[in-house]
Formats: sequence, structure tokens, C-alpha cells
Amino acid sequence: MSPNSDKEKLAIEGGKPVKTTPSIPMFPGGLEIGEEEKQAVLEVLDNKYLFRYYGPGEYPSRVKMLEEEFSGKIGVKHSLAVNSCTSALITALVAVGVGPGDEVIVPGYTFFASCAAILAAKAIPVIAEVDNSLTIDPVDLEKKITPQTKAVIPVHMRGVPCNMERILSITKKHNLKVVEDVAQACGGSYKGKYLGSFGDCNAFSFQFHKIITAGEGGMVTTENDLFFDRAQAYHDTAACWRPGGPAKRFASARYQGELFPGVNFRMSELIGAVMLAQLHKLDGILNRMRKNKSRIKNGISDIPGIELRYVHDPAGDTGVSLVFYLENGQLAEKFATALKAEGIEASSIFNKGIPDWHIYSHWEMIMNKWTPTPEGCPYNCPYHQGSVPNYNREMCPQTLVLLDRSVHLDIPPQMSEEDCDLTVEAIRKVARAYL
Ligand SMILES: Cc1ncc(COP(=O)(O)O)c(C=O)c1O
Repeated sequence: MSPNSDKEKLAIEGGKPVKTTPSIPMFPGGLEIGEEEKQAVLEVLDNKYLFRYYGPGEYPSRVKMLEEEFSGKIGVKHSLAVNSCTSALITALVAVGVGPGDEVIVPGYTFFASCAAILAAKAIPVIAEVDNSLTIDPVDLEKKITPQTKAVIPVHMRGVPCNMERILSITKKHNLKVVEDVAQACGGSYKGKYLGSFGDCNAFSFQFHKIITAGEGGMVTTENDLFFDRAQAYHDTAACWRPGGPAKRFASARYQGELFPGVNFRMSELIGAVMLAQLHKLDGILNRMRKNKSRIKNGISDIPGIELRYVHDPAGDTGVSLVFYLENGQLAEKFATALKAEGIEASSIFNKGIPDWHIYSHWEMIMNKWTPTPEGCPYNCPYHQGSVPNYNREMCPQTLVLLDRSVHLDIPPQMSEEDCDLTVEAIRKVARAYL
């Protein structure tokens, strides 16, 4: 065997792997946790006041500071910190007026929570296709609108912006509310505007796998004063926060509908302190992920047989992932398995046998319309006119075909240039063998 053919032998067939160093876990902000976060937490502990409301005046609430900085960063009038993105989605849906009898459209490729939040807000989810950007397909979105549709949840999946121009023109035409799910795309943008500043009320996640993190946490953003008031009321059982501070905590409603019973989704001061430190690291994390992604993309874009995921606005991509399509699902699975053997953390996205909460066909609880009580609310809500969606695993075939053909790679900001080059080398090696 010549040295060249030896080098060409795939690791999966006993050849030498391209990369032998351990892969970097995909905790972009989590791996950056350091002195800044430690100091921030210690300051809160020293202050001995861990609750965001009613704190001693001389020590400003870290949660409040986070909300103010977040609004400035994203370019919105209001931000409301909560304890998760699921909480943020439920709060946002309630704030914009979603409730019994309503339908909300959500893409078939998103974390299950985007769909579960709709049920928690007492509305019925309607599942739409994604297109080759792996974000909601505007053509199918428009087809799924019924007289009961109240809102749409565009999900900026795997860090890539949705086609906000098309989505907003459809929602405007049909008078629908928009709740962006920015869980996976904090810091991303579309045509120069930050994601989370387009919808009526939007939701971010600070859970541990996200771009910036405090382990758990979330944020609601909105331009709208009424939606902000309603979000405040809902996330805090309308109990603690009132304009005018603690002295006014028992003040009655300023207008009808301002106050109603809600839940407790409040963020703690410890999380607020960590998130402030993480927010200051966001741009650095994004810069590194974007640089890494473009280095890898440039290295593989000429390979015949590889079709890169379409990105609506490449400048606004967070760079958190790289997805490409191969001719069919069998090839995608074979390719990803071979890449793994070469030492590159890659996966095919859709595998019928492996449960994945990001793909609608695996959402058992939705497919079977399971509900917490036997009455079956909200599917049989008397306020809901028209027919209830008939969920089934084949209802979004375009989504399944695209996911089936996908190979997915995470792009951690901690990757070095050498890691990126080895990734390119491995993809090229596997492509020479299989494509
Ligand atoms: C797209 C999407 N939406 C919502 C969520 C829910 O976020 P959280 O875990 O903060 O509730 C996630 C979390 O993985 C997500 O990826």
C-alpha cells in the first residue's frame, strides 16, 4: 500500500484518524465561565440579598441591570428576565393574548418546548414544515393559517435566522402575533437587526447548552408596553412587582386587564449576576464561532455532492453550527459515522430509531395528544371552532427528508484554527471516499 493510499484509508475501515485530540463539548458560554462570573456571584452573596425585588436601595438588582443591558444590546424597549426559555415562551404567548380557542403555528424542527409552551398557554399547536434553511417554511406557514390562528413561533434553529421578511409580511397580512424563539440564536441578527427584536414578544434561553448561560434562565423581549405589563403580571403572579417599587406593591390595577393571576417564573439574583458577566462575553463568543464556521465553510464549499444549509442572512448567523445535505439519508448517516471515526463530532439529524426532542415526529406527547388531565384540554376546548389538527408522524414530509439528508457539526468557540483545518481535512477525506 502506498503512503498516499494509507493516508486515504478511512478510520472507520481501520485507517489513521485525521484528528486524535478530544472533541470540545458544545457549551459555548459554559466553558467560558471564569473569574468574572465567580466575582459577580460572590458580590451578590456578600450583599446577602438574593431576591430581585425589594432589595436594599444602594445595591442595584443584578437581574434589573441584566434586563437593561439586554434591552440595549438587542435594541428593544423592554426585557423581562425569567427562569427558562420555556417560561419565556409561555409568558410571551400569554402576554400577546394567546389563550383558549387559539391555534399557534410552530415549525416541526425545534426543541419540543416551543410546542409544549403553546399547550401551557391553553392553545393548540399547529405544526408547519421547515425549508432548506431548517427554519419555518413561509409557504407552508401560510397554508396552515385558519380563522383560529392567533400567533406564529419562528424558531431561529441552530443559530440561524428565519426568513423574517417573508414571515412578517404573512403575519401582517393575516393579523397574527409573532413570538420569536431565540433560544439557540442569542446575538444573531437578520438584515442588521438583532433576533428577538422582530416579534411582538420574544423568548431567549440561558440554559447550559446555549450560547450564553447561567445553567438555566431566559428572557422575554418586547417593544410593546402593554405586552410588557402583561408579561410582568404573568411571570410574577402579579404579586411582587408594581411600578413605584415596594411601597406600591399592593396598588390596584392602573387599567382593566393589567393584573391577573399568573405563575412564578422570576429570575434569582445569582442567575442575574452570572448572566450579566456572560452577556459581556457574548460578542467575543460570536466572533470566534463565526470565524471558525467561515474557515470550515470555505474549506468544504467546493466539494461536489455537499449542499450547505441555506442561511437567510449569513452575516446574522451566530456560527454555532454547520449543517450540510447529502443526496439521501443513508449517505448522511454513513458520512457522519465515518466523520466520527475520523475524530470529528458529527451526527446525522434524523434517525427514525433514535428519539430526538427536536423533531416533531418524535414528540410522542403531541402525536398522541396526551394532556395532564383526562378531559383533554385544550384540544377539546369549547372555544375552539373548526377542526383540531390530526397529528401524525408523516405530516411534514419535507421536514423529514431535509433532516434525513443532513449532517450536523457543532462549532464551539473554543476550537482552534488547527481544529477547524482538521475538520475540513476529515470532511474532504470522507467525501473523497463516499461522494
Ligand atoms: C429552540 C428551543 N426553544 C426552547 C427551548 C427551551 O429552553 P429552556 O430549556 O431554557 O426552557 C430550547 C432549549 O433547548 C430550544 O432549543
